[in-house]
Amino acid sequence: MTDTLQIKDHIRQVPDFPKPGILFYDISTLLAHGAAWRATVDRMADIVGKMRPDKLIGIESRGFLVTAPVAYRLGCGFVMVRKKGKLPGSVIPHNYELEYGTDTVEIQSDAVKPRDRVVVLDDLLATGGTMRAAIELLRKVGAEVLGAAFVIELDFLGGRNRLDVPVSSIVHYD
Ligand code: PRP
Ligand code: MG
Repeated sequence: MTDTLQIKDHIRQVPDFPKPGILFYDISTLLAHGAAWRATVDRMADIVGKMRPDKLIGIESRGFLVTAPVAYRLGCGFVMVRKKGKLPGSVIPHNYELEYGTDTVEIQSDAVKPRDRVVVLDDLLATGGTMRAAIELLRKVGAEVLGAAFVIELDFLGGRNRLDVPVSSIVHYD
């Protein structure tokens, strides 16, 4: 069994991407390593399964990579939260503040029923802005948000303090 340290060994750190001064935590190398990726999905499934969700919510785009295999393992439905204009049919939008300006996320109107028990997954927790917006959107449609789960958490940015649900992450950087 690949432990947390070994999962961390497969996450590549790329300096100055996408801008000078930013250190990018790249899961491409983790995805490309069969045993490490399987261990990551298994760990996520253990954490998320304990919350007994009806549906898992994945946040576009890297969150989809994490959410789909975990949903398959748990036998849960998988619902996408997407950037504006990507989902067909009737959608519910939610606008949220960025450092400079605003952005919008959307979910299909019939994807989550009121009182559905959901867990939201993403690859990375940085400032928490993305996850916070997804949780606000899910509450708008009446879902019960049981928790948020990440592969990677950047502890030094304090993103979990912006979230009012239990937060779980496999790999931490402090
Ligand atoms: C990254 C990452 C998280 C988010 C974390 O996504 O995948 O979704 O940023 O940042 P935050 O906690 O400060 O909100 P990005 O917006 O780069 O898009 P992508 O997943 O489509 O690559
Ligand atoms: Mg993302």
